[in-house]
Amino acid sequence: MMTQRIGDLPWSEVRAGLWANGYGRLGCVLTRVECEGLRGIYGEPERFRRRIEMERFRFGKGEYRYFAYPLPDMVSELRESLYCELAGTANEWMEALSLPASYPDKLESFLECCHRQGQNRPTPLLLRYRAGDYNCLHQDLYGKAAFPFQAIFCLSRPDDEFSGGELLLVEQRPRAQSMGHAIRLEQGEGVAITTRYRPVQGGRGWYRTNFRHGVSPVETGERYALGIIFHDGE
Ligand SMILES: [Fe+2]
Repeated sequence: MMTQRIGDLPWSEVRAGLWANGYGRLGCVLTRVECEGLRGIYGEPERFRRRIEMERFRFGKGEYRYFAYPLPDMVSELRESLYCELAGTANEWMEALSLPASYPDKLESFLECCHRQGQNRPTPLLLRYRAGDYNCLHQDLYGKAAFPFQAIFCLSRPDDEFSGGELLLVEQRPRAQSMGHAIRLEQGEGVAITTRYRPVQGGRGWYRTNFRHGVSPVETGERYALGIIFHDGE
């Protein structure tokens, strides 16, 4: 069961990583067969609601596809079980940020909030990068309803199937220069990242830093990734 597998991840370390650095490694969650199964869906257009060629929007180079509802079982199970583990931290996080938000325990209830605000479209996506492709630094926000974390899984084998293509996180700190993290992911490995902000404890209470993420250019081969965004979009 995916719920069990996600429940068994080292959550205290993941949460500590989110608070300290804006991201927490989940470890290897998906098997090679599962990764190959997921990226195989990329060739089934009826499973997707929208295809984005990044170059057209100057988002980068390469393409991604947003899944249509109903999501593939594995994507839906990952989204539900990861949400359950992160909802409590999300509430503490928003309180530290002094932002009004309250996240219910279950994804289903959160999605109902999204839908009431007109955010009805599914946002989990598959991304495909070929040699020369990259993803510019950005945030995945699709309206007022937003969950403060999202998850990314690499579905291809670094070195064997592609080179380059590291996940990038850049933290903009107030009155200081930005700090970057380059995260190499193995096949099946996941990472939870902040969607937008990170609360930082300062001398006079909490302040917030702003995060953007992207992918450095793939040098050779082909890299697939799965993005799990919890809020639906407009
Ligand atoms: Fe993104």
